[in-house]
Amino acid sequence: MCGIVGYVGQKQALEIVVAGLRRLEYRGYDSAGVAVISDGQLEVRKKAGKLANLEGLLGSDPLPDSTTGIGHTRWATHGGPTDDNAHPHVSEDVSIAVVHNGIIENFAELKDELATAGVHLTSETDTEVAAHLLAREVPLADGDLPEAMRRVCRRLEGAFTLVALDRTQPDLVVAARRNSPLVVGVGEGENFLASDVAAFVDHTREALELGQDQVVVLTPDSITITDFAGEPVEATPFTVDWDASAAEKGGYDLFMLKEIAEQPKAVADALRGRISKDHRIQLDETSLDEAVLRDISKVVVVACGTAAHAGLVAKYAIEHWTRLPVEVELASEFRYRDPIVGPDSLVIAISQSGETMDTLMALRHAKAQGARTLAICNTVGSTIPRESDAVLYTYAGPEIAVASTKAFLTQIIAAYLVGLYLGQVRGTMFEDEIRRILGELDDMPSKVDLVLDTTEHVRELARELADSTSVLFLGRHVGYPVALEGALKLKELAYMHAEGFPAGELKHGPIALIEDGVPVIVIVPSPQGRAVLHDKIVSNIQEVRARGALIIAIAEEGDEAIVPYADHIVRVPAVPTLMQPLVSTVPLQVFACEMATAKGHDVDQPRNLAKSVTVE
Ligand code: F6R
Repeated sequence: MCGIVGYVGQKQALEIVVAGLRRLEYRGYDSAGVAVISDGQLEVRKKAGKLANLEGLLGSDPLPDSTTGIGHTRWATHGGPTDDNAHPHVSEDVSIAVVHNGIIENFAELKDELATAGVHLTSETDTEVAAHLLAREVPLADGDLPEAMRRVCRRLEGAFTLVALDRTQPDLVVAARRNSPLVVGVGEGENFLASDVAAFVDHTREALELGQDQVVVLTPDSITITDFAGEPVEATPFTVDWDASAAEKGGYDLFMLKEIAEQPKAVADALRGRISKDHRIQLDETSLDEAVLRDISKVVVVACGTAAHAGLVAKYAIEHWTRLPVEVELASEFRYRDPIVGPDSLVIAISQSGETMDTLMALRHAKAQGARTLAICNTVGSTIPRESDAVLYTYAGPEIAVASTKAFLTQIIAAYLVGLYLGQVRGTMFEDEIRRILGELDDMPSKVDLVLDTTEHVRELARELADSTSVLFLGRHVGYPVALEGALKLKELAYMHAEGFPAGELKHGPIALIEDGVPVIVIVPSPQGRAVLHDKIVSNIQEVRARGALIIAIAEEGDEAIVPYADHIVRVPAVPTLMQPLVSTVPLQVFACEMATAKGHDVDQPRNLAKSVTVE
């Protein structure tokens, strides 16, 4: 969703801001704009559509030199993606320019107030009210922009990151944050603000996490942070542990292809340092008190989309290893149904971005009920880990393609480590059992590598089936969330009807969807693991095959029993049942990516989607 960049320093702000916006493109947006201060004037350029449109405008109507600037990529909420609605928004006297991420919930009432005061609004956005309110407040605050920002923020409801420029203060960028993401990049003689570190990692890897309800004031040489009441606050510094090249395509045509290929390394990184020499789990960084973990009586996972699928996979493992009940709930539903959580619950929030508003709100609701909270997250310094009692980072590196791939695999790994840790601490697992599973996890990078070596067949199939109108995915046990994930990838990327079902549920209704030639991708459980699951899925395959389905089986090497029942077989290495999602998901990612490519879609930035969903 919206991307924000701010710069103040010695260099040309426009170049830095536009390059930062380019780095944030992956978040998803439909218009873009920039503002700089030059000769006591604010200059704004903004344009609907992709950054290229803005760059075209900047080419025909260039901005003057300036060392202070802000920029924005907008994902439309209030008002369509038009030039007028694009940010920055300016006050009537063009003294203040503002960019905003989030939703100002009381904007209608503020708009009425402004209209009564004779202010003329030129856009349909909620953001514009902030520009006018600030411009009216600055003189009342004796020209003190940070104080005016604090006063305005105290009046705003909802979620917002606001960044403002004042034409009379050329070396100043002021920002405020409530519920929406914002990080500070600390430079030498220059400072940065952005929705995420990708925007400034080319310039500095030193960053500051901002807390809730804080105002940050940047000059080239200083960073000052206060709360909304004006009390000084300390920010938490952190160093970005990846460099700019990690956020580039590195020779691949697509970020998604690169991220699929990075999965063996991502899985290895997620495991690194978490297993002691004597084969015990060490998760010291989580700061979860062992006594607390011994006392909990249930685990609740809250997450959205792919992260929720990772939670569903983990449920099978954690329940099996710990005998604790595990509920997995879509975060957007969680807090609106009065869930039963309390001090005896461990609530695990899984999120790649750490900024998903639905997940954040579910986490806060759980905390308010007294639950213990743990974040499984990929983005260091983001809101969800900061607000959780403990965090386990997935260390997958930046995930730029909108469709999640390596985050999914590493979320499963992290959740499994939590499950094993619970088993270890609560004494529900024998040491040799933990050691065996750790050995299996340790094998996974090389097994995922093997899958990547054999994707050509899947690509061919994707191209052949690109004209299908619908694809169904079936799985059982841990294969069921994999089916959901395969279908989600196809919907996101190929814009095609796709659904994942528990294979046994099909006959209770969805089998009516089967008609001649419908591709059905089946995640076949290992015949070595729980043979009964294999047998049952063969029956389910026969049910759909009898009705004309085209069967594509994702089956392990050596599973010959599946041969008579499948039209195509995609082989994955034989692994223990609970490890199967780590290998069987990969061909489905490749399938969706290739099909979208065959259909000519923008794979890295599919239509209507945002990487980081910061509104509820
Ligand atoms: C799917 C996808 C989304 C995200 C979901 C949660 O490919 O990317 O479904 O998984 O929006 O995002 P995070 O993990 O950032 O909370």
